[in-house]
Amino acid sequence: MGDKFAGKVALVTGAGVGIGYAICRSFAMEGASVALNDVDGTLASQAAAQINAELGIERVIGYAGDIGDVSSIRAMVADITARFKHIDVCVANAGITLFGKFLEYEPAAFDRVMNVNLRGSFFTAQAAARVMVDRQILGRIILMSSVTGVQAMLGLDAYGITKAGIRMMARSLALELGGYGITVNAIAPGATVTERTKQETANYEQDWAALMPTKHANSVDDIASAVLFLASPDAKQITGQTLVIDGGWTLYSPVPPGY
Ligand SMILES: NC(=O)c1ccc[n+]([C@@H]2O[C@H](COP(=O)([O-])OP(=O)(O)OC[C@H]3O[C@@H](n4cnc5c(N)ncnc54)[C@H](O)[C@@H]3O)[C@@H](O)[C@H]2O)c1
Repeated sequence: MGDKFAGKVALVTGAGVGIGYAICRSFAMEGASVALNDVDGTLASQAAAQINAELGIERVIGYAGDIGDVSSIRAMVADITARFKHIDVCVANAGITLFGKFLEYEPAAFDRVMNVNLRGSFFTAQAAARVMVDRQILGRIILMSSVTGVQAMLGLDAYGITKAGIRMMARSLALELGGYGITVNAIAPGATVTERTKQETANYEQDWAALMPTKHANSVDDIASAVLFLASPDAKQITGQTLVIDGGWTLYSPVPPGY
């Protein structure tokens, strides 16, 4: 426990479990008040209660809300602003992965992935940025990209396109908001061990660890610590960047045997 974010308010979307949950927990452990969003309202409340119980202090509030729905984002941000008076950090973490072969991919799946990942991140950032600009807050916006926005992966075409778009979103919004003292960056995680990824693939952790030069798959805390750094005063001159966290997986391409 520390106080690096005491007095600050952080909003984290898609945070009932996984990476978002770890980010909320880390901010709360460093003294921040945290708005923990999830489309599953029960999960959001449970996750908030779990962190508060661990800390022994009420720092996290659960917010039900679908990031694919702009009116839901705006209502949530209005409520957070009314309650806390400011938003200092916005982590647009919510994202969905719908696997599928390119030749068979359906328009409905494509639209869902675009809607939550791209449109949702864009309008979450916009809603938070409006509060930061209105209240002259030197805010931090952190978007969630992926290594699949850097390297092509079979079955992740639509998802990868959104994650590449989020890298450009960070650059573009950083330019838009720099004059207000707001920074915008993205994190691009590689294989990260979460409830979902473990469930989707047997031996997920071991299989990915074997492919990573560091020989470890990411933990959720590897991502959370980078988010806290980008949200800290130490990172005030870093903006428009995408930080790849992947144990070196994207550094190399396949080579013939013997190299
Ligand atoms: N886990 C990984 O290996 C990995 C790698 C690269 C990037 N990412 C990205 O990191 C982010 C978090 O990934 P994760 O694996 O922790 O997530 P996850 O799939 O475990 O989901 C986390 C939470 O998001 C919620 N959610 C889904 N759709 C939502 C919506 N429309 N509005 C609000 N909440 C919603 C879910 O209910 C869930 O509780 C995502 O953007 C994902 O694309 C994850």
